[in-house]
Amino acid sequence: MRQTILLPGGAGFIGSHVAAELLTRDYDVVIVDDLSNARGDVIDRLETITGRRPVFYQADMADRAALERIFTENTIDVVIHFAGFKAVGESVQKPVAYYRNNLDTTLTLLETMAAHSVKRLIFSSSATVYGMENPVPYTEDMPRGACTNPYGWTKSMIEQILSDACVADRSLSVVCLRYFNPVGAHESGLIGEMPNGIPNNLMPYITQVAVGIRKELSVFGNDYPTPDGTGVRDFIHVVDLARGHVAAINYVNQHTGWESINLGTGRGTSVLELVHTFASVNGVEVPYRIAPRRSGDLAFCYANVDKAQRLLGWCAEKTVADMCRDSWRWQQYAETL
Ligand code: WQD
Repeated sequence: MRQTILLPGGAGFIGSHVAAELLTRDYDVVIVDDLSNARGDVIDRLETITGRRPVFYQADMADRAALERIFTENTIDVVIHFAGFKAVGESVQKPVAYYRNNLDTTLTLLETMAAHSVKRLIFSSSATVYGMENPVPYTEDMPRGACTNPYGWTKSMIEQILSDACVADRSLSVVCLRYFNPVGAHESGLIGEMPNGIPNNLMPYITQVAVGIRKELSVFGNDYPTPDGTGVRDFIHVVDLARGHVAAINYVNQHTGWESINLGTGRGTSVLELVHTFASVNGVEVPYRIAPRRSGDLAFCYANVDKAQRLLGWCAEKTVADMCRDSWRWQQYAETL
């Protein structure tokens, strides 16, 4: 019997890649998205890529009546919750909007799932919950740390909400997938990251410099205690990340209780390494200048990935060069949208 997977926020960068993986496998997909940070035509592009069209509802996840309709019209087996604001810098400027949106959507989702006896949830969490104090490589048994921005705190708080819900209802099955730095795009070049306005994150900024939208990249600090002085991150290809979600569906189908699992490669790559790899694999220039450090940034952030291998039988396979090639292909297509 084919399972139906509900993807709140599924029109976004990560969600659309998970939808593509599910549609090419034996799942039915229902996407609900308010399109505040995504384009509606991603549904058409998913159909082009996979030959199958997901069911799509444009709705605010905090709208209980809208969710009630979705859960009534569809028999949902598993929910993968991507819906939420995710710009770190913006969260510092608009903390109340971030807490209102990210927590409200989650609480409304949990209430609706309970009303329809839907017991399996995968949550889009983040390595940012490890905070500033934990040593790298991060392992899931470490305590969550003090986050450096409201966006990170919403992820940390939601993990706690889900953990408490699993204590109260032992039949729930919840996996919090802690993403490291998702980059890249589907090999078709038809879906990818579309940040609103000036990109906060490194890879979309690099691709916009390479294509000429931005003049040069500011490298935020080269005086960190790292091999080349620039920040080191665990960049993971978004398609590897998406496949980790498919593996997590199998896990929540067979287990109950709350788990957190790192989705990374376990390898660190510096900012300048990424810039140079991008330029060389794509044969393009990426002008940059060294700028002051960005507040809240860590020198190192990368994963221990043993638990994902052990519990999910999953590990990342794509290389940094793949991430750079696929990001560049997407950037060139995105220009035409
Ligand atoms: C990576 C490195 C910067 C931009 C954040 C969130 C995380 C997740 C991913 C949402 C750092 C440097 C960046 C630029 C630069 N968010 N950089 N110039 O901060 O590791 O993680 O995004 O899903 O939860 O915390 O990602 O891409 O912003 O920065 O030098 O223009 O690139 O200093 O070392 P980050 P990032």
